[in-house]
Amino acid sequence: MNAIRIDGKAIAELLRARVAHDVALLQAECNVTPGLAVVLVGEDLASSVYVKTKARQAQAAGFKSQQFLLPSNVGEAELLELIEELNADVSIDGILIQLPLPGHVDRWRVLEAINPAKDVDGFHPYNVGRLAAGRPALAPCTPLAVVHLIKTVVTDLSGLDVVVIGRSNIVGKPLALLLGDAGCTVTGAQLQTRNLPDLCRKADIVVAAAGWAELVRGDWLKPGVIVIDVGINRAIDSVGTVKLVGDVAFTEASKRASYITPVPGGVGPMTVAYLLANTVNAAVSRRGLSWLMNPDARHVWPSSVREKNRAVDLQQAT
Ligand code: GUN
Repeated sequence: MNAIRIDGKAIAELLRARVAHDVALLQAECNVTPGLAVVLVGEDLASSVYVKTKARQAQAAGFKSQQFLLPSNVGEAELLELIEELNADVSIDGILIQLPLPGHVDRWRVLEAINPAKDVDGFHPYNVGRLAAGRPALAPCTPLAVVHLIKTVVTDLSGLDVVVIGRSNIVGKPLALLLGDAGCTVTGAQLQTRNLPDLCRKADIVVAAAGWAELVRGDWLKPGVIVIDVGINRAIDSVGTVKLVGDVAFTEASKRASYITPVPGGVGPMTVAYLLANTVNAAVSRRGLSWLMNPDARHVWPSSVREKNRAVDLQQAT
């Protein structure tokens, strides 16, 4: 078998176009421009690249996009003060604090300071709890991206066996919730899991998010499996060149899988696209404008309702 690549780059482009359309609609109907603030602490090269990409794509989709680049020795109090300012800023709908933060900063104190209505990363315990309870919530971007990519190749997920390797708060745990809600039987595995290869061999879908270069080998996979690779690792090849590899041994896995995401160009671009989608969702739900995004309902709302919503918006703004 030679797996078909799931082209995350192309799928993300479609999602970003949808987001840009929604942004134009919000501007035309409600005079609202969604705002995204991205905060980076320190000079980590990979994080700088991610933050620049997020800010650039937000701007390209029509958002108000702000970047805050703080030195690695910034005090926790100063960071919390910035978050308070962004919470109070009515032109900002989404706040993203790029992780990891330096060791002297309490990550949870920072994440919990973000207004949950602006928590476009879905990391605040309020949103984590709502997601776990099956209530509408801002969900983390990478798990949303993974589910979206899977749905491009399988229409009905119910009854499928999925192994998710990695139990981080950013990917593994929320992804297990989303896939469970979609009807999958989810096994949350990790590096310590005994018989991990055997477990993977039984799965219809394997999601690798362990942060371990080329952990998943071809002979761990059932023929026809769908493989989603969340990993991004730096590796040195046989001639000494640094390259990016995922958590899956791509060439081997491609011989067994039916569909597989490449690294780069798989999950990564979709994660950024979902950050933009979450920011639009935050802008819409914070203002009580969800009717606007329902194409069936749109035409039945008279302009007076639009005016009313605009009034709500202005009230919230004051
Ligand atoms: N660092 C690695 N992934 C992420 C992410 O999805 N959001 C944030 N804020 N930081 C990260």
